[in-house]
Amino acid sequence: GDTHYYDFVLKETNFTRLCSTKSMMTVNDSFPGPVIRIHRGDRVYVNVHNEDDFGVTIHWHGVKQTRNSWSDGPDHITQCKIEPGTNFTYEVIFGNDQEGTLWWHAHSDWTRASVHGAIVVLPAEGTTYPYPEPDGEELIILGTWYVGDLNEMLEEDLSIPNITTPKSDAYTINGQLGDLVACSGSETIHRWSVDYGKTYLLRIVNAAINSELFFAISQHNLTIVGTDGTYTKPTVTSYIMIDPGQTIDVLVTANQSPSQYYMAARQFVSFDPTVTDFNNMTATAILQYRGNYTPPDIPSFPTTLPSFHDLDSALRFLPLLRSLASPEHPVNVPIDITTRMYITTEMSVVNFIFEGSEISHIAASLNNISFMDPSSDILLAYYRHIKGVYTTDFPDYPPSSYNFTGDDWPSSITKLATKVKVLNYNESVEIIFQGTNMLDEAEDHPLHLHGYTFYVVGMGRGNFNNETDPKWYNLVDPPERNTIVVPKNGWVALRFRANNPGVWLWHCHFDKHFTWGMATVFIVKNGKTPETSLLPPPAYMPPCTLPSPI
Ligand code: C2O
Ligand code: CU
Repeated sequence: GDTHYYDFVLKETNFTRLCSTKSMMTVNDSFPGPVIRIHRGDRVYVNVHNEDDFGVTIHWHGVKQTRNSWSDGPDHITQCKIEPGTNFTYEVIFGNDQEGTLWWHAHSDWTRASVHGAIVVLPAEGTTYPYPEPDGEELIILGTWYVGDLNEMLEEDLSIPNITTPKSDAYTINGQLGDLVACSGSETIHRWSVDYGKTYLLRIVNAAINSELFFAISQHNLTIVGTDGTYTKPTVTSYIMIDPGQTIDVLVTANQSPSQYYMAARQFVSFDPTVTDFNNMTATAILQYRGNYTPPDIPSFPTTLPSFHDLDSALRFLPLLRSLASPEHPVNVPIDITTRMYITTEMSVVNFIFEGSEISHIAASLNNISFMDPSSDILLAYYRHIKGVYTTDFPDYPPSSYNFTGDDWPSSITKLATKVKVLNYNESVEIIFQGTNMLDEAEDHPLHLHGYTFYVVGMGRGNFNNETDPKWYNLVDPPERNTIVVPKNGWVALRFRANNPGVWLWHCHFDKHFTWGMATVFIVKNGKTPETSLLPPPAYMPPCTLPSPI
């Protein structure tokens, strides 16, 4: 394959949305940022130059980074920040089975709101898509717009003893809010031009900070053909639901009367059916046919786009996906499970000391451990056998008699700690994530594992039942994902083979929940050969503490 070199220059750039101008960190002055476009089998190096005034790291979301945690990116997990005035070159190593759409984003503080972009992995040279070659393609990157400064909001969130979730001010499609939003003019809408009769590949990325989204195009069906850099069986739908971190590839045929049609993305609110005080929950863009016709005064709006409380539409969408499971793109679901874990997702309250005074703050946790950032990065501590950075006792409860979806889960035992789970090389792992209902805060949690894709073998409402639910697992063509939602008051079961040695973060892809501690780390040990072991570190890694000034 070819080798590609990219330069990402991080610096402040001014953008005006909602009649208000702000300066924010961007890559190469663009929002969304530049696209990495390669063929499967290519090599990719990205040199990140930080010309901004605060530190940042970049993560290559969904890229397996085979044996190369060093370039994975999460702050305090595999590296520390690339400080202002310095640079760091990531070697982005794809799994040899990854094809489709992935993306990259900042992985420190809440910087990813403005620092993100798409990664397109085309079929390897000399091979084709497992569907007819599309006539064209289009990227759709869904994002969040905040009028205020995210760094200030994060400070506030951490210091105020309430649930101070900053609400987004609007959603974006390719950086534009669309024309349904107050204070936007037609110059702020993204337009996609198509030719009648042609079929296009639409690559959709949810880069929003804290929101699940529905997406639909007026009068046009979507045929899902891929998710998270894997192929799926073609599935026709009139809308999709996409969680933060996920990508969905769909085919769209321009087979309606030549005109202009709205495409729209709308937030799905899982947590509180009474909430109605959201502003600007729908972002729009326009699909327009080329040719001679009189455009409508107002393009038609997708009637199939679910409303923001439509739990049924969310639950109906989730089981639609199936792996392609073809000879070229086979499914390898682990069968003889060697490590089975049961992990609950909770919201609770913890007390801790912030700048000298004790405050109680909402905590998000996995198995009641609210993940605390270690003092220096876990990867280097693991590699160099440095003690005192983390402990290896991440708890692993068996399914027990708790009614997880009732109110009797003992939330008082939530602990702040840096606990990791260690897996032997090549173990067959099954994890059941169980949503719980503490603080009346039952809500969806999109959980993401770095360094892997996993098979989603089962999903259900209510409490997981250890006797009956595994009988319904799909071990034939389960979808392969890197991010999966644990549905509100429900569970999800997944499997993968631990064949990528290194240090890998598991976390909720709602940034507020990640900040509040809904995370853990899996350390996968080396195999017996050099080819099954973590690579040595590059010559330069951004250090965790700045050298003291001379
Ligand atoms: Cu998309 Cu840990 O990230
Ligand atoms: Cu969450």
